[in-house]
Amino acid sequence: AIDIKSLRGQSGVITLDPGYKNTGSCESAITFLDGEKGVLRYRGYSIEELAEKADFLEVVFLLIFGELPNKEQLDKFKADIIEQSEVNDDMKTVINGFPSSAHPMGMLSSLTSALIAFNPKSVNVDSEEDMYKAIVKLLAKFPTLAAWTLRRRNDLPLENRDKDLGFIESLLKMMFAKPGEDYVADKTVVDALDKLLILHADHEQNCSTSTVRIVGSSHAGLFASISAGVSALWGPLHGGANQAVIEMLEEIKNDGGDTSKFIAKAKDKEDPFRLMGFGHRVYKNFDPRAKIIKKAADEVLAALGVDDPILEIAKGLEKAALEDEYFVERKLYPNVDFYSGIIYRAMGIPTEMFTVMFAVGRLPGWIAQWREMRLGKEPIGRPRQVYIGETLRSFKELDNR
Ligand code: ACO
Repeated sequence: AIDIKSLRGQSGVITLDPGYKNTGSCESAITFLDGEKGVLRYRGYSIEELAEKADFLEVVFLLIFGELPNKEQLDKFKADIIEQSEVNDDMKTVINGFPSSAHPMGMLSSLTSALIAFNPKSVNVDSEEDMYKAIVKLLAKFPTLAAWTLRRRNDLPLENRDKDLGFIESLLKMMFAKPGEDYVADKTVVDALDKLLILHADHEQNCSTSTVRIVGSSHAGLFASISAGVSALWGPLHGGANQAVIEMLEEIKNDGGDTSKFIAKAKDKEDPFRLMGFGHRVYKNFDPRAKIIKKAADEVLAALGVDDPILEIAKGLEKAALEDEYFVERKLYPNVDFYSGIIYRAMGIPTEMFTVMFAVGRLPGWIAQWREMRLGKEPIGRPRQVYIGETLRSFKELDNR
């Protein structure tokens, strides 16, 4: 066997893999994904079973700590989160410094980072106990910050969590309750949101998760790493796709509803337009989450009595794409975000908030991956490159350039 340490400092062959299409960055025991067969499992449990039987906080515990919690563990976990849920009043000054037109994802990333100033001990997490404290703090305060980004946009006062309510109910209340109103979240909405958050909770080494792991690998601290993850998620090729999907479906609707024009645009290589919510780096058969979400979208819209023409356009677009050679050849199927925006819309969540909802769902996955990376004492992430620039040149004085 090769003694890896004996190679320390030596430069050998460098593999070049733009976009890391075939490069593993770590070993992980959290999420199993088989893109060919459309399989997704958290800690060995199938996503289908978890979406049907578990609630979000059970999945949060499972992802982070490796096992489903028993009743006692779950009760303690929930109580610890509630205990830490208050956000420092000075954070309100930070958020009120943003214009109400600011994108909620920009606010969320900044607020997550700003939280470090009020919780400086969350940075040095050398023991598992310190790690637990930092994790619980973030799980407790992040949903409040997420809800506050919406309240800032709507110029509503910023309230802390209602400690008598469950995780999802309190999140919805913080987002939507008008001052003085006795807000009670709709049960259909609570159940659907619980399921959506579970479906988004982890997805192994995607762009935002890899960002969290690489930032965390410099020991920058949990909150800073997650703030970076939020920024990575924002992009339309990643979590921002759920917002982009609805904007695209709206555009199709306003254009008269003819999907073929948009399919042709997506196929045109001269045109940068892509069908949003289609394609996936790893799933080349189908995205198992999309199947669950499509069914949930039908159920939620029926239960809430919402008749959204966008859903029909989405179904028409999916059918047309799945029959089109271009999409078939490239194995481009609807991904998790194709239908999630439709459910969020039916729940009354504004489009700019879709990616924030995704971030709330993905938070446990990011935390689990960060914790695994730190406990595994992974080295700092530092990819190599193949240099293709100029060879050595002599400096030219300003007057000679
Ligand atoms: N519409 C049209 N063509 C597409 C699409 C699309 N949505 N997605 C991929 N293609 C084409 C590419 O143009 C390329 O064609 P070519 O072989 O003729 O050059 C081929 O399919 C392969 O695409 P890549 O971009 O190489 O695939 P990659 O794995 O790098 O990208 C991605 C995956 C980013 C998800 C891509 O499919 C995409 O941009 N989709 C739309 C955005 C989206 O829905 N993102 C959400 C992803 S899920 C998530 O992050 C939660």
